[in-house]
Amino acid sequence: MSTLYFYDGHFYEGDPAAVPLEDRGHEFGDGVYEVVRVYGGRPFLLDWHLERFERSCSAIALHNPLPRADWIRLIHEAVLRSHESEAQVYWQLTRGAAPRVHWFPQTDSKITLIVRPQTAAASTGGATLLAYPDERWANVFVKTINLLPNVLAKESAHRAGADEALLVRGGVITEGAGSNAWFVSEGKLYTHPADRHILPGVTRRLVLQLAQSLGIPTEERAVTLSQLKNVEEVFMTGTTTEILPVQKIIAESSLLNQLSTPQEAPPESLLYECVHPVELWAQTGEAPVTERLRAAFAEAVAHCRNHAPMSP
Ligand code: PDD
Repeated sequence: MSTLYFYDGHFYEGDPAAVPLEDRGHEFGDGVYEVVRVYGGRPFLLDWHLERFERSCSAIALHNPLPRADWIRLIHEAVLRSHESEAQVYWQLTRGAAPRVHWFPQTDSKITLIVRPQTAAASTGGATLLAYPDERWANVFVKTINLLPNVLAKESAHRAGADEALLVRGGVITEGAGSNAWFVSEGKLYTHPADRHILPGVTRRLVLQLAQSLGIPTEERAVTLSQLKNVEEVFMTGTTTEILPVQKIIAESSLLNQLSTPQEAPPESLLYECVHPVELWAQTGEAPVTERLRAAFAEAVAHCRNHAPMSP
């Protein structure tokens, strides 16, 4: 098992550690990224990832140096060179290197790409989520490399023994720190609309299609914290998460107020810890909608695997 690196036009077997100190990704987080899952040597849903990548670039006026066909060629070549058939491809594009000024200097945008082995998503008995204030910026639909709020939320979840953070903006559940959130109430499936407050997940897009083909009634409507009491099933989706059933949602008791009414005063510590957890929701019965979707998702993955790997 090895990790393959690509930077500025060249492949490397070890981390080339070649990024200039004044790369704007390094200094400003001025860049965007994608993560694609590879099953059986084939990048899964690559066109949808590239579509979103192009939207992210244009949202921040970042010059995309490659047409889509060249991205597809590069990604396939990287996967072939890595010799990994079960992998993830991470790539990012930054605005390149220049002496530090906030406005856009004359730079060439720079591609970094990493192929690393990826094992199957853990099939736990059900994940625990930590409800956490969504303090990200207002343009979350851009898959920017600025992930500090997501990092802090994940770290807090990790410290609380939870698997993922469930982000809440003014009482409304938006998504996870690295995944989209789904709820089933009276047999109907709900997920936050694809507006500027969530990342429109590629897995989310597939799950919406699968739900439609299975005849599961679906509505792109946000669920609030107070509506959780009417929810029968919860699951999260993402490229590496796939479809993750949720068993329990907890929150820090002192944060509950803040989850529904954002506070104006800066908190004493930005890194919220969960030392007085309260349970907001727990799975009580079966999760038939989640299970049907997981089976349909597994079929889509099998279909991807069963196609012969493409040559570049
Ligand atoms: N995360 N929401 C957020 C905030 C995410 O970071 C992700 C993905 C998703 C799910 O999107 P998709 O189904 O396209 O993976 C939703 C990736 C995997 C990551 O940052 O590693």
